[in-house]
Amino acid sequence: ADYGGGPASSDHAMHHGGKSVADLTGPTTGTPDVAVTLTAREQKFTLASGESVDGYTLNGSSPGPLIRARVGELVQVTLVNESVPAGATLHWHGIDVPNAEDGVAGVTQDAVRVGGKHVYRFKAEQAGTYWYHSHQVSSEEVRDGLFGTIVISSGGTANEVIAAIHTYDGKRTLNGRTGEQQVELPAGSRFRLRVINTDNAILRVGLVGTPYEVVAVDGRDIHGPTPVTAAFPLAAGARVDLEATVPASGALRLDAGSASMILGPGGSEAPGGALSGETVDLLSYGTPAALGLDPAHVDRSFEYRIGRRPGFLDGVPGLWWTINGHKFPDVPMFMVAEGDVVRMKISNSSGQSHPMHLHGHHAVVLSRNGVGATGSPWWVDTLEVADGETYEIAFVADNPGIWMDHCHNLPHASEGLMTHLAYE
Ligand code: C2O
Ligand code: CU
Repeated sequence: ADYGGGPASSDHAMHHGGKSVADLTGPTTGTPDVAVTLTAREQKFTLASGESVDGYTLNGSSPGPLIRARVGELVQVTLVNESVPAGATLHWHGIDVPNAEDGVAGVTQDAVRVGGKHVYRFKAEQAGTYWYHSHQVSSEEVRDGLFGTIVISSGGTANEVIAAIHTYDGKRTLNGRTGEQQVELPAGSRFRLRVINTDNAILRVGLVGTPYEVVAVDGRDIHGPTPVTAAFPLAAGARVDLEATVPASGALRLDAGSASMILGPGGSEAPGGALSGETVDLLSYGTPAALGLDPAHVDRSFEYRIGRRPGFLDGVPGLWWTINGHKFPDVPMFMVAEGDVVRMKISNSSGQSHPMHLHGHHAVVLSRNGVGATGSPWWVDTLEVADGETYEIAFVADNPGIWMDHCHNLPHASEGLMTHLAYE
């Protein structure tokens, strides 16, 4: 399993209403519109900016190749494990794929052993910015390189820039490059910047040099975005799409801590200045729009209290994260039925912040610390819950199967901060 060492066995295959996970697949017939083979290796490799890293690659690089699909297209990805000793999988972070395509070792499939392969097939349904990563011993495999980016678009891809943030061996990178990098864009052009946090900690990101709009979060559009200069708090695993116009006077800078990107005409000077000290709050950002569900009439409500207590895991004493007082695997699953409107109250008194990630679903944020949302419906698959905070979220249970719900500070997940959402 993901929290264990080697490849998991499938002798405890999960069942749902008489159906096994194996029935909850993507389209099994049809010629794929996008077909990619990703070969995973353990190796020493060189970052695009020249530094050498000991870790894992997909097709020889980390991040792995960018996968692009259009809404409606059938995507087929074949994972080949050439030399990742603990086995590997591919999880489509933020894409609400059918359960059997979700890529969670020990839950939806066995980890792919060295010499093996696994084929994932799903229809690209929701435009947005996503990423993929191994979900086997993920606290090590993701950190050391087994991930890449995937973009599903509905329109053209003109002036689109991707910035995947990752730290290898203490070196912060954007798309595998340390330091400052240049992206050429004409003055006056409008562009979309897709920022992806593949690290374990929240990061403040934003554009310096012009106001920008937050147009999408976690692959869901924001309604009525307005220009801001404040920084955006990007949770581990989360994505944000920013839109701005390159000023006639020069370039812009994406500030992502010690790595940055200059966007503008070649040779133009990078704007100085620091990222704003203010923070965008999506609870009140944008303009209201219909939620598509009624949070006053829910079929199930759950409490999800995150805490911490001493304990033993595999005989090793430590402090373990808990959910409602239990640590994984002793946490009862959250059980739902297909079609349920589900409300969940997540509170955190564990002393640290946790980016909570629910697989297979997107949830709308209803409130934080009792204060209701007043802006655009804010849909998430990954929500940062800081120490002392309480969030209420709601979602429709519309994707049958067994789904992980865990902290995306991945060492926390392996220290017990994970559970499942399961359909009866
Ligand atoms: Cu991005 Cu369960 O993971
Ligand atoms: Cu955590």
